[in-house]
Amino acid sequence: MFKEDTLKDEVILITGGGSGLGLSMATKFAELGADIAICGRTEKKLKKAAETLKEHGTDVRYYPCDVRDYDVVGEMFDSIIKDFGKLTGLVNNAAGNFLSASEDLSPGGFKAIVDIVLHGSFNCTHHFGNYLIDNKKKGNILNIVTTYAEDAGSAFVLPSACGKAGVLAMTRSLAYEWGTYGIRVNAIAPGPFPTEGAWTRLFPNKKFEKKYLEKIPAGRYGEHEELANLAAFIMSNMAEYMTGETVTIDGGEKLSGGQFNFIDSVMSRGKLKMAFKMLKKMK
Ligand code: HXC
Ligand code: NAP
Repeated sequence: MFKEDTLKDEVILITGGGSGLGLSMATKFAELGADIAICGRTEKKLKKAAETLKEHGTDVRYYPCDVRDYDVVGEMFDSIIKDFGKLTGLVNNAAGNFLSASEDLSPGGFKAIVDIVLHGSFNCTHHFGNYLIDNKKKGNILNIVTTYAEDAGSAFVLPSACGKAGVLAMTRSLAYEWGTYGIRVNAIAPGPFPTEGAWTRLFPNKKFEKKYLEKIPAGRYGEHEELANLAAFIMSNMAEYMTGETVTIDGGEKLSGGQFNFIDSVMSRGKLKMAFKMLKKMK
């Protein structure tokens, strides 16, 4: 689907690009010809990631930065634009999360996550949007949310659910408001993709993981390449007319709430089919 130069002439900032899904997206974008900026709080991690990314031959730079600090984020955008001469895309990927009973959350815990997820995404988006608007340039913003941002929220990850729902509202609000400037804003809602960051905080043991897998019709977790390909498509000019959209990539997990979805967990598919036939005969 992609040519090697699909993202040539693009300069893309991926927040939290030093690890996990952010690094996988950065790798795919670099493979497809984009120049890459990554940011995060841990310089050592960023430096190592940048060295690997450079193997693809494009310009790669890293910027230690906490996305919670509006002024520091502004300085980062100034540096990126000075270093690369321009910035065409932003992926708001940096996030924080942990499992907690909501009644046990401290105000500081709630604030830490909402600050990273929602305020961090706003801080980057606001600086980037103003740069594009002031310079009459088109641009592209991709927000990484979660499937629970859109639907019923989720127990035990309240701060993340609230923060990500806010990012989704920002996606749709700005897609409309900034469409007139040629700025596209979309989101990806991933299901579970194994990363050290998510797994150490959200998947405490093998028993938990096994139970979790039962919710996914595809019967497996996502592969980073699958998400990175989707992100590359959205960031490319193949998706030029697409904005305000949230694409779910979760092997069907989000649909697990369907009213009768549970019944093949009560008996085997073979027995179910026999039961359905008997019900048909009884009519
Ligand atoms: C309850 C906690 C906590 C925990 C921290 N806090 N960890 N509360 N349970 N496990 C509280 C602290 O007590 C403190 O509140 C406040 O949060 C800030 O804590 P700090 O240690 O100062 O952390 P800080 O550096 O500000 O923030 C870090 C963090 C940490 C967000 C808490 O987890 C982190 O660095 N995360 C980054 C990466 C990450 O989380 N990746 C996973 C994304 S996965 P008080 O009140 O005591 O001051 C994801 C996927 C979802 O989003 C879907 C999966 C399928
Ligand atoms: P991850 O590896 O922990 O990635 C989070 C990144 O964000 C890290 O590189 C981290 O680096 C950075 N970060 C955290 N706080 C920051 C801050 N305040 N300022 C700047 N950077 C910060 O986790 P991941 O699983 O790849 O998650 C990536 C994205 O996908 C997140 O938005 C997450 O919510 C979303 N997601 C993941 C899954 C999944 O199954 N993995 C599912 C749904 C959604 P530092 O700690 O060095 O700052």
